[in-house]
Amino acid sequence: MTALETFISQAAARSRERTEPADCVLVLAPLMLDLIERADTFLQPQHYRSDAGSYTRNLIYKAPDESLSLYALVWLPGQWTPIHDHGSWGVVGIVEGVLEERSYVRLSPDRGADSGIELARGGIVLLRSGAVTSFVPNPDHIHVTGVPSERSRAVSLHLYGRTMSSFNVYDIGTGTRRFVDVAHNES
Ligand SMILES: [Fe+2]
Repeated sequence: MTALETFISQAAARSRERTEPADCVLVLAPLMLDLIERADTFLQPQHYRSDAGSYTRNLIYKAPDESLSLYALVWLPGQWTPIHDHGSWGVVGIVEGVLEERSYVRLSPDRGADSGIELARGGIVLLRSGAVTSFVPNPDHIHVTGVPSERSRAVSLHLYGRTMSSFNVYDIGTGTRRFVDVAHNES
C-alpha cells in the first residue's frame, strides 16, 4: 500500500470508531504527521494547481459515504480564506511554506444564530512545513487562513469529517454569517 492508501484506510477505521470530534482529531493528528513526511511519494502535479485569483483546493480523496475528505490546498502569496467555520472536525498538515491562521472568538451567546454575531479577533498561529494542527466544531472554530504577500507559496493537506464543499462565511461588518459553496478541483 502507498502512504496515502495506508493513511486513508487508518483514518477511516479510526474515525468510524469515534463519535466525538475531539476524539477523532486526537487519533488522526499523528496519522497526518506521518502523511506529510511522505507527501512527496504521492502528491502529483495536479495537487499543486494554483490560481492567481484565489487559494486553490485540490481534491485528493473523498470517501464514498462522504464521511471523510482530503484536499491539498495551495496558497500563493497574499491569498486568504474569508472568515469561516467548517461545521466539522479537521486535521491540517503543512507540506511547504508557512501557513498563517488568525482565529476569532464568537462573543454573542447563541452559536446557532446566523445574525447578531459579534466576533473578537484572537491570536495567530504560524505553521511551518512539518507542523500539524486540528480543530473541532465545539464551540465554532472560526478563523482565517492564508499567506501574507511577503511570504512564499504554502501547500497544506486538509482532512475533514465530511465532504467539505460548503462552509459558513462570516461578515464582521453586518454581524451575519451565511452558508456558501466552496470550490475545488477534482483529483
Ligand atoms: Fe478553515
